[in-house]
Amino acid sequence: MRCVRAIVAGTVAALASPASVATDDAALLKEAQEIFQPLKDMSASGAGAMKDQITLGRLLFFDPRFTVDGNVSCATCHLPALYGADGLSKSIGVQQRPHPRNAPTVLNSGVNIIVHWRGDRESLEDQAIKALGSPITNGQPDIGAVLDRLERIPGYAPLFRAAFPGDAAPLNAGNVANAISAYERSLVTPAPFDIYLAGNVDALSPSARSGLETFIKIGYPTDLYVFRVPSLRNVAMTAPYFHDGSVATLREAVSVMARVQLGLKLSEDEVNDITSFLESLTGKLPSEFATAPVLPPAAVISARH
Ligand code: HEC
Repeated sequence: MRCVRAIVAGTVAALASPASVATDDAALLKEAQEIFQPLKDMSASGAGAMKDQITLGRLLFFDPRFTVDGNVSCATCHLPALYGADGLSKSIGVQQRPHPRNAPTVLNSGVNIIVHWRGDRESLEDQAIKALGSPITNGQPDIGAVLDRLERIPGYAPLFRAAFPGDAAPLNAGNVANAISAYERSLVTPAPFDIYLAGNVDALSPSARSGLETFIKIGYPTDLYVFRVPSLRNVAMTAPYFHDGSVATLREAVSVMARVQLGLKLSEDEVNDITSFLESLTGKLPSEFATAPVLPPAAVISARH
């Protein structure tokens, strides 16, 4: 049996039967509520050490100074201005090194079940530590060199101590990953679709509701090629699409997915409606992401090669 899955809030729900099509607004809402979960704030608690971890993680996310050329930060490829993606079909890393894949958004990455296009990262922490050790995203010979850079920026040591009060030597690789992940988990973007799921039918336009109905009816999306289905949150803001960035517009992505995955040729109206529905998943950027933080000052860092 073909496994049809839908991932929206990072929640996978099996669709019982694609044939059970909602016929009116109340029935559609009920059906949607059974399939999708509204977005929840995953940042465990915004208090105490967790708050300090988020603050520190934000600085690390935006700080380019610990990559090999001092020129690339996480925010270089996950740009706030582009909703946490980079607008390129494939990313470009330190020293202009090409990345083989398109950068997915970091927004709502805390609710993703699996991380990376191929699902080859176990958790955000695992992702962050591997990004720090990557020749493309960081370029340093090893994590020791990353820590060395951070130690030379005096403002960081007290921030690590505050964020990880139990640790004797808190400025370590694991905690860099922990802080960045805590920050990423705070990057949630509730959208009109969540208001709809809470019971306000008018939060979605008639076209978006019709698109939602078609979306449910056709069991959209199934697996994206052999790659995992990325969260559809903010998908309208994160072109180009697919792991290789080969599709430029959301409308085209909707048509391609229907054709390739489902063998369906959608009508123009259906494409428009599904696109309207997907647009209702665009949330508000968290203010702690929309603006860049002021980083702790440091002496000039000369790039190692
Ligand atoms: C050179 C550009 C680049 C830089 C720099 C970069 N990333 Fe990424 N990021 C990517 C690409 C490309 C992917 C997709 C990789 C894949 O799936 O194989 C990705 C994937 C991710 C994901 C997984 C998202 C998902 O939904 O699966 C997270 C989280 C992430 N990056 C966070 C970070 C953090 C944190 C940093 C900084 C430590 C960072 N990235 C630096 C390009 C970059």
